[in-house]
Amino acid sequence: MSFSPKAKTILDIAPYVGGESKAEGVERIIKLSSNEGPFGPPPAAVRALQECVSDMHRYPDGGSTALREALATENNIKADQIICGAGSDEIIQFLCNAFLAPGDEIVYSAHGFLMYSIYARAAGANPIAAPEQDLKADPQAILDTVTPKTKIVFLANPNNPTGSYLTKDEIKSLRDQLPENVLLVLDAAYCEYVQEADYSAGHELVDEYGSVVVTRTFSKIYGLGGVRLGWGHCPPEIADILNRIRGPFNVSTAAQVAGVAALSDKDFIHSSVRHNANMLNFVTKYLRGEGLEVYLSAGNFCLADFETPERAAGCAAFLKERGILVRQVAAYGLPSCLRISMGLEEEMMLACEAIKDYGQPS
Ligand SMILES: Cc1ncc(COP(=O)(O)O)c(C=O)c1O
Repeated sequence: MSFSPKAKTILDIAPYVGGESKAEGVERIIKLSSNEGPFGPPPAAVRALQECVSDMHRYPDGGSTALREALATENNIKADQIICGAGSDEIIQFLCNAFLAPGDEIVYSAHGFLMYSIYARAAGANPIAAPEQDLKADPQAILDTVTPKTKIVFLANPNNPTGSYLTKDEIKSLRDQLPENVLLVLDAAYCEYVQEADYSAGHELVDEYGSVVVTRTFSKIYGLGGVRLGWGHCPPEIADILNRIRGPFNVSTAAQVAGVAALSDKDFIHSSVRHNANMLNFVTKYLRGEGLEVYLSAGNFCLADFETPERAAGCAAFLKERGILVRQVAAYGLPSCLRISMGLEEEMMLACEAIKDYGQPS
């Protein structure tokens, strides 16, 4: 078969490579490579999943009604401005499909989440990176990168894999200065972990501007990466557009019931937030004590700089021999760094000790 020009362009996209989950010959795996919550799914979600199994022959509620209502109550927003998806990835994909035509551009910050570029390119658009300052998104650089072709600015806040974030005021000022017709997508996949008082996921901007979408996920703090559930909070007109292009049953029954139950499991969420803050503090101090540069992170992971790509790759391989899987982030333009997700306390002790055993940069 001869491929169309569009299919040929798609073959130029470098496929997304997820965090490793296997290590040959190792019995116990410590998976710190995908920023998953370390405690398993919330117990309430497990019960809800068990209860819904006998209904699996039925199609799901195509409108994810109960879930959207629970999300609306939880976040003090309107249910009809919420669109649910198979992971927040799918919401990003819908946005790219709906707003981008061949030749358009998206702007993202240089070390931003990779899926923005992949979905933009699949829609025929060109992803343009705005330089960062000290591994933090730079609002002025983003504004300088915007051209008349720009249709969407994607910003992960906090960002994966750097862990840095822009404050509520910085985001508002960015929105104020962006052209009105450029959509600002705030990807708040890690917002629940953020402790800093000057941070906001940005829901308040959605109605204020009509040109902001906030995306959220159940894959991180809610411990439900395996059921694939995410959502977007959109201005009404954008919710209407996205609802017309999504699959009629894009969110499974399992994801819907697990999501509703997870939202109700407040103890699980609160203790996960506390645990994460403690682990980040411990790991950051420990690794800095070992002479590594560790960037301050507002998420559930930290980024450690091993000075050279060889040392970073060498450390990842050394850890893997002990069953400890971390994320190499060369694809994010950070070849000398490793991203380490926060796991259980014992897992983080073992990871830190293993990095110490690997040795300091000479
Ligand atoms: C910044 C960011 N956005 C979105 C996602 C996608 O999450 P999901 O599709 O599992 O909801 C991730 C996953 O790692 C992420 O780090």
